[in-house]
Amino acid sequence: MSEQQLFKVTIDNITIDVPAGTSILEAARKIGGEVAPPAMCFYSKLKGSGGKCRTCLVEVSKGSEKDPRPMPKLVASCRTTVMDGMEVKNITSPKVVDARAGIVEFLLLNHPLDCPICDQAGECHLQDLSYEHGKEATRYEFQRRTFKKHDLGPYIQLHMTRCIMCFRCVFTADQLTENRVHGVLDRGDHAEIATFIEKSLDNDFIGNVIDVCPVGALTDKTFRFKNRVWFLKPMDAHRDCPKCSGKVTLWNRGEEVFRVTARKDEWGEVEEWICNECRFEKKLSSDWVIEGPREISRHSVISQGHYVHTVKPTETFKAVNDGRAPHLLLNIHHESDVNKPEIELSLINGPAHSTNFNAR
Ligand code: SF4
Ligand code: FES
Repeated sequence: MSEQQLFKVTIDNITIDVPAGTSILEAARKIGGEVAPPAMCFYSKLKGSGGKCRTCLVEVSKGSEKDPRPMPKLVASCRTTVMDGMEVKNITSPKVVDARAGIVEFLLLNHPLDCPICDQAGECHLQDLSYEHGKEATRYEFQRRTFKKHDLGPYIQLHMTRCIMCFRCVFTADQLTENRVHGVLDRGDHAEIATFIEKSLDNDFIGNVIDVCPVGALTDKTFRFKNRVWFLKPMDAHRDCPKCSGKVTLWNRGEEVFRVTARKDEWGEVEEWICNECRFEKKLSSDWVIEGPREISRHSVISQGHYVHTVKPTETFKAVNDGRAPHLLLNIHHESDVNKPEIELSLINGPAHSTNFNAR
């Protein structure tokens, strides 16, 4: 067998050898950190993805050793393969930084600024991009494109107004499930993700569309409005599942499991796809073997609440109180109807309302 040909490529002044056929984006991910361009539509586990959003644009300042001419325009790094001797600029190019700000402005033309109520907040790639490149005001003066929310079956809700048309969910349904029932309808600014005649997405493995969606357009109905992700504790867990690997991340608050997702890597991509049963129907801690806290490696506020290596100070109250434990002075549940301990928020069907607490 002939040895694999390696190409030398320099990205933001860091040189690396990668196999021929590697894209600039994947080469940059091998270097890691900020050198890797953001990607809103490319997904390494989905064939044919990429080339839609343009957030991964880079400048090729030297085409290759044989033809050192720079490329005339910025190129989509997820769809451009490396050449031997190629030199690429990502964050070291003012042109790229400027273009990326423009792309973010385009993506936000129609996207609502509803992060305060959106379930994806805290793990949304568009939210991160807006913080990094967004402007404080919009120059857009026309009416925004809006859509009604659609229930795509019992587990998934489509909030099309938030969609950025990355096509990831379409590739996921095509490549993971037996029968794709949703896709892109219409063209141009009328294009939308839809099922044509109201159909529900209920194929096994279709729940993965929630994980691949870079924004909050596809949400888990069993989790919507239940909690903010940064208040939850992600834990690695597994179960013996006949359909999938059964390796998941549980998002807990106390003992309650609020949601179940696939485990994601540092680029926010699913490591192993999980089935609908693991995702939507196993919401008790007893369904799972807990492995330990999950480190969220993609930069995020979520891991900030992990106190895994904390050394607790010695409890001195008993020592100074002749061995007596402190008294409970006030039990808030005696005073308030809210948060009754016997009501498990994670098990209520839909967001909690006052009726769930039997308000007076
Ligand atoms: S619904 Fe989400 S995954 Fe599907 S195209 Fe829109 S943004 Fe992409
Ligand atoms: S990630 Fe390359 S165009 Fe979207």
